[in-house]
Amino acid sequence: MNFLEERIVKDGIVKEGNVLKVDSFLNHQMDIHLFEQMGEEFKRRFKDKPINKILTIEASGIGIACIVAKYFNAPVVFAKKTKSINIEGEMYIAEVESFTHKCKNQVIVSKKFLSPDDHVLIIDDFLANGEAASGAIRLLTEAGASIAGVGILIEKSFQPGRDKLIAQGVDVYSLARVSRLAKGVIEFIPEEC
Ligand code: G4P
Repeated sequence: MNFLEERIVKDGIVKEGNVLKVDSFLNHQMDIHLFEQMGEEFKRRFKDKPINKILTIEASGIGIACIVAKYFNAPVVFAKKTKSINIEGEMYIAEVESFTHKCKNQVIVSKKFLSPDDHVLIIDDFLANGEAASGAIRLLTEAGASIAGVGILIEKSFQPGRDKLIAQGVDVYSLARVSRLAKGVIEFIPEEC
């Protein structure tokens, strides 16, 4: 097991409905030492790509995106979730459906912050159905930016997100790939396979 998998086993809690609660170290209280290790690992994995920008979608991807950005010496752009759009024309907009929350959100980024000159690494905490990452990819495609890859902390490999992204030709790297969640049981797929 790698350092993140070990931490998930130690402090993660499996809830009803295949939900893994990691709010004591990842997405409510954040362990910054762990974030530094994760940032370093993304840098190792994507170091050969000319990444000049990190993109995430608010809210819980922002913390790790900022740490990763430090390793690439690049700025972070986070797509904002909003309901009313009255600034059309100056924004890239994508619709994102949340299966977990059963709702649709529009995610937006100002045209000032993405351009065809950008080589962007998308970062997020969870990959489940892949809707958030697919929305980010649509924003980048609209902007004409290059997609260097998608970096994920926890992938729920029994959900279709990874396959959806791979089918679009995107390089996906997840630090922990959960293959099974049950009461008291958290299993992983070995790294990079
Ligand atoms: P998707 O983005 O991969 O399509 O995921 P999905 O719609 O299934 O998930 C909706 C939200 O729930 C996402 O956050 C996702 O990160 C989060 N999520 C999915 N599975 C789990 C889980 O097992 N544990 C935890 N803690 N979160 C999970 P969001 O609502 O889009 O964003 P945010 O505001 O929370 O960042």
